[in-house]
Amino acid sequence: MTIFLAIANSAGGSGKTTTAHALAVACAEYGRRTLLVDFDPAAQLTYLLKVENPRSSVVDVLREQSYLENSIHSTSERFSFLPSDSRLSHLNFNKKTVAEVSSNFRKACQESDPTFDLVILDCASSVSALSLLAFATADYVLTPFVPTLHGARGVLQSLEISRSQATSTNAGPEWLGALPILMGSDSSEIDQLLANEVKIMSPSIPKSRSVPDSSYSGKSVLNSAPQGSVALAYRELAYFLLEGMQD
Ligand SMILES: Nc1ncnc2c1ncn2[C@@H]1O[C@H](COP(=O)(O)OP(=O)(O)OP(=O)(O)O)[C@@H](O)[C@H]1O
Ligand SMILES: [Mg+2]
Repeated sequence: MTIFLAIANSAGGSGKTTTAHALAVACAEYGRRTLLVDFDPAAQLTYLLKVENPRSSVVDVLREQSYLENSIHSTSERFSFLPSDSRLSHLNFNKKTVAEVSSNFRKACQESDPTFDLVILDCASSVSALSLLAFATADYVLTPFVPTLHGARGVLQSLEISRSQATSTNAGPEWLGALPILMGSDSSEIDQLLANEVKIMSPSIPKSRSVPDSSYSGKSVLNSAPQGSVALAYRELAYFLLEGMQD
């Protein structure tokens, strides 16, 4: 069975890309066949992983103009990668509904050979049709947030968008929780603000210079600083999530 996990928060700069990349590395280390998808038209992850002008991207796969297998890149970090490009911001659904596009995309991932255990979507920070598409595709959502009012508002807004998609036959993705990324701020007050709505994940991710530094190498902090506090926290989180998502 393929599990689809969206890393989402409508607030920008909340650690989504860092978290999606780190979890892909950690899950691959735990032996899961993992596909990391850049689901952001800004394509930061594609840039970070040094995939330049890909011949086809997630846009072509969503449009069913390219096979998933032909668009995937293998990485030295042992996960597979589906890049993005700016055309994703004006993806034309060609009269297809979000439900149809997401269902076709899920099928492509589930039926690829070899099949994936886990598909991680690095979502964009905008509130758009793309957010709806990500939530329609996902089984689970994890929301990294910087514990500020802006970050907390992004968590609540994302939750609201996801819930607005629920229908009588489809409850929408399961919200795993909000993951504090402690970029120098204390999270306790904001945690209290969110606690009635969403689970606050533990361990939180500490602030470390090693994270922005790792982006120059095109590698996750799990490989550039494997014994650092950030890498250890992401590994623990991945272990916990993989256990939970098996249920
Ligand atoms: N634990 C951390 N410690 C220090 N810096 C971090 C940490 N996590 C992320 N950062 C830095 O914070 C910035 C934003 O992180 P990231 O790109 O992962 O957020 P994002 O939510 O994907 O942003 P966007 O909304 O632009 O897609 C990056 O420069 C990243 O290197
Ligand atoms: Mg990002």
